[in-house]
Amino acid sequence: MSETPKTDPECNGGIRMTRERVSADNKRIILNNRTVDVNQLVPIKYKWAWHFYLDACANTWMPTEVSMQRDIEQWKSPKAFTEDERHVIKRNLGFFSTAETLVGNNIVLSIYKLVDNPECRQYLLRQAFEEAVHVHTFQYIVESLSLDETEIFNMYRENQAIYEKDEFSMSCTDGILDTNVDLATREGLQKFLDNLVAFYVVTEGIFFYSGFVTLLSFGRQNRMPGTCEQIQYILRDESIHMNFGIQLINTIIDENPYCWTPEFQEYLIGRIKKAVELECAYAQECLPRGVLGLNTAMLREYVQYIADRRLEKLRLPIAYKSSNPFPWMSEVIDLKKEKNFFETRVTEYQTGGALEW
Ligand SMILES: [Fe+2]
Ligand SMILES: [Fe+2]
Repeated sequence: MSETPKTDPECNGGIRMTRERVSADNKRIILNNRTVDVNQLVPIKYKWAWHFYLDACANTWMPTEVSMQRDIEQWKSPKAFTEDERHVIKRNLGFFSTAETLVGNNIVLSIYKLVDNPECRQYLLRQAFEEAVHVHTFQYIVESLSLDETEIFNMYRENQAIYEKDEFSMSCTDGILDTNVDLATREGLQKFLDNLVAFYVVTEGIFFYSGFVTLLSFGRQNRMPGTCEQIQYILRDESIHMNFGIQLINTIIDENPYCWTPEFQEYLIGRIKKAVELECAYAQECLPRGVLGLNTAMLREYVQYIADRRLEKLRLPIAYKSSNPFPWMSEVIDLKKEKNFFETRVTEYQTGGALEW
């Protein structure tokens, strides 16, 4: 299998207009520039990317639409939570408050530059907005509960388990930024796929999940209802992000099969196994004695179970064969079963305010 011809490096990631009319057949996920005009959405080739964009737009929400009143009352009540419960809630807020920013930065600084197909870029712009909404969500929860903002937002450098997860993700953004990666080479393309797996599969598909299970477990007991409603919105968004990302990865591999070597597949399996260990260490740190009927053994089983599901979607062999100790999570993710999910939703957006001259 021959490698893709090199593009003009001056044009790599550029937006130069081409002379030819665009044919959908000529479009690719990466390395379009100079061959296909990257400024034209239509004709659409990758209908799945367009549909992910439409689905995402149908799910618009803002954190400030969700009342935090009951959460505030519960958090102020000295008897409403044990110290271990307060610890696990704060740890998860600390992790998410920065992790969402890391994902947004990676989209804008790495992925958007290198994925130059217009329909994928349309989704990436939408995803970047959603990551900003997620960052806003954690700022809003922390502010509403009058938590120590310095403690929460510095946790990613001051707590070892969170630091190691974030370092795993951030090193992949650095890897792209530092090297001026050339996607026309096998090495460059594998480096980019490593970045996409680190964010779409590991960060959004594994690292978020013990936090989701733990915070939603409070909601199942009717505690922290505003926080849990927002976590449900985020979980729905993240599920779409991950599915878009895996489709993106698999399509890049199909279009460039020379990059999908047995050694590279082994490497990625090793990276996912490393991520599972980091997530289990994080769960141990969050739940040293267990809360709400959750313990670290159950979370390990769950993290291994979801890692196998991610490996399957990447068309790689599963590694753990663990079962799902939280079948209710599947129902939360499959929102068609979540009957009253939007019942409390405010639909009046303040767009009119922007029209005053
Ligand atoms: Fe997010
Ligand atoms: Fe995301």
